[in-house]
Amino acid sequence: MKIAFFDTKSYDRPGFEEFCKQQNVCFKFFETKLNEDTVELARGYDGVCVFVNDTLNAAVIDKLYAYGVRVIALRCAGFNNVDLDAAEGKLAVLRVPAYSPYAVAEHAMAMLLTSVRRIHKAYVRTKGFNFSLNDLTGFDLHGKTVGVIGTGKIGRVFIDICRGFGMHVLAYDKYPAANSGIQYVSLDELFAKSNILSLHCPLTDETYHMINDRSIEQMKKGVVIINTSRGALIDAEALLKGIKTRKVGAACLDVYEEESEFFFEDYSGHIVEDDTLARLITMPNVIVTSHQAFLTEEALQNIAETTVQNIVTFFQTGSCENEVRKQVKV
Ligand code: NAI
Repeated sequence: MKIAFFDTKSYDRPGFEEFCKQQNVCFKFFETKLNEDTVELARGYDGVCVFVNDTLNAAVIDKLYAYGVRVIALRCAGFNNVDLDAAEGKLAVLRVPAYSPYAVAEHAMAMLLTSVRRIHKAYVRTKGFNFSLNDLTGFDLHGKTVGVIGTGKIGRVFIDICRGFGMHVLAYDKYPAANSGIQYVSLDELFAKSNILSLHCPLTDETYHMINDRSIEQMKKGVVIINTSRGALIDAEALLKGIKTRKVGAACLDVYEEESEFFFEDYSGHIVEDDTLARLITMPNVIVTSHQAFLTEEALQNIAETTVQNIVTFFQTGSCENEVRKQVKV
């Protein structure tokens, strides 16, 4: 099985090289992302292995099919970057539904703590021997209400962590989990009552821009918004407006709607053209990490193992339990 591996980073290779040795899978590692300009590289391969910012629209999928590619192996959980309608009947779409919910939930809490205790500012200050405490006043998480949107694998781990901090947890999920001990409320109530909001639902037509002018209007003044899910859950312009008017107290963003052009690359010597991203980053109360929440040793190992196993199972049996089907909305 020959697989073209797109958007390769140094941290991807060790895990995949280890697991592909144990199986009859041969990876060719390309640093470029997969898109309409690079799809030609996949000619002659049985499958492509892709990540969150590769583009798998109808044009790319049709070309992959014409080149003989039969599998899209996502090395991530989300599949919003794949046109499932276009893939149907042509290419199987496989994913890694869970690799470490702890990695993402712990990152969400790390960002929250950094933000509310001003660690990002203190770190820079003490590096320059500035030991002043001015403007570093934070607030206790204990006793605060956190609203969690999406109570799947990651959302539930995040809820457990929050409970450990003595926070009051409210949640919203389109499909609430029965007998979970989670206090579900409507989205309106969640927005109105939460001091902190954390997004853990997938990006779908329904959840696109769920954080917008209207929902921000409903929120408490000073609300802290955490997004480790998908960028387009938040209308970034509306968030910026909410920050400027002081309605939003802080934002912790591991994802951004237009991240595919920038995230995972070093733009330090460049002029970033995205004014909204640039403006958000200049805000003292906005913390941005570049889709890093998944990045732990444990998660990378699990991603490599499951992705290789998905490919092997699919080519050996013609199906795979981790195949994404069009009607499945997660
Ligand atoms: P999951 O499938 O276990 O849970 C998702 C939950 O969202 C489910 O309980 C589902 O019922 C709920 N949901 C579905 N539609 C909804 C809607 N319209 N409104 C509210 N809730 C809805 O997924 P998991 O593993 O917890 O991952 C959550 C998201 O985290 C993924 O979709 C992915 O976008 C993101 N993610 C981000 C990573 C990162 O590195 N930043 C890494 C891994 C996942």
